[in-house]
Amino acid sequence: MAEDQDDIGASGKSVALENRNTGEDGRRYSPSAARNRDAIADVLAAHMPVDGHILEIASGTGEHGAAFTDRFESLHWTYSDLDEISLSSQTAWVDHTDRGGRLGGPLRLDASKSHWGEAESLADLNGIFCANMIHIAPFEAAEGLIAGAGRLLPPGGKLFIYGPFARDGAIADSNARFDSDLKRRDESWGVRDLDREVVPLAQSAGLTLHKVIEMPANNLSVIFQKA
Ligand SMILES: C[S@@+](CC[C@H](N)C(=O)[O-])C[C@H]1O[C@@H](n2cnc3c(N)ncnc32)[C@H](O)[C@@H]1O
Repeated sequence: MAEDQDDIGASGKSVALENRNTGEDGRRYSPSAARNRDAIADVLAAHMPVDGHILEIASGTGEHGAAFTDRFESLHWTYSDLDEISLSSQTAWVDHTDRGGRLGGPLRLDASKSHWGEAESLADLNGIFCANMIHIAPFEAAEGLIAGAGRLLPPGGKLFIYGPFARDGAIADSNARFDSDLKRRDESWGVRDLDREVVPLAQSAGLTLHKVIEMPANNLSVIFQKA
């Protein structure tokens, strides 16, 4: 296993903000996904349709989908991303993980676009999951993610966003430091305010705030439901 430098995406900026490891078969591993996947899986078990079909936006290494389809035996999961290195890791996870066809993709998808290509016609979609993207991308990615969820989810479908947030103008010290670091890398990046920036977008896309769950390291699991 080789240790890589930060992944550099199409924009020329790091898409990972951490060193990732690549196995000989092309599957990549990130330290943060290893740390957070069990806690996120517990939230999925309690609040998401784990016997249905979930589209993941910004799948990164692909470890979340691989871990969740291992834990939930009826879960169907489709990867997506816009970054070549991430897409090739997700392909390697599909190729080297035996889930009986329940782990699929990756779809090439830019969340900030108003049309998500092949994903627009995914059959039987029940949920959308997105971890650690909306702060490491221009705000258009958050806008596109939420608009896409409003467009693609059926009534009752769920959108799960995981990551750091501010709450109505208040921000944890560690998230404030992270926000400054993100803005230093790219002024269009930054920790988003759930109540002031994200919930209003969701409301205009026909999504209501369903659950907010505090997670380790000042992250949140935020679940919206399509009316
Ligand atoms: C920090 S990584 C998170 C990966 C994974 N979700 C995780 O939590 O380990 C950020 C991911 O967002 C993707 N990304 C950034 N902007 C995007 C966009 N507009 N549409 C889709 N994916 C995007 C990057 O390519 C990268 O895979």
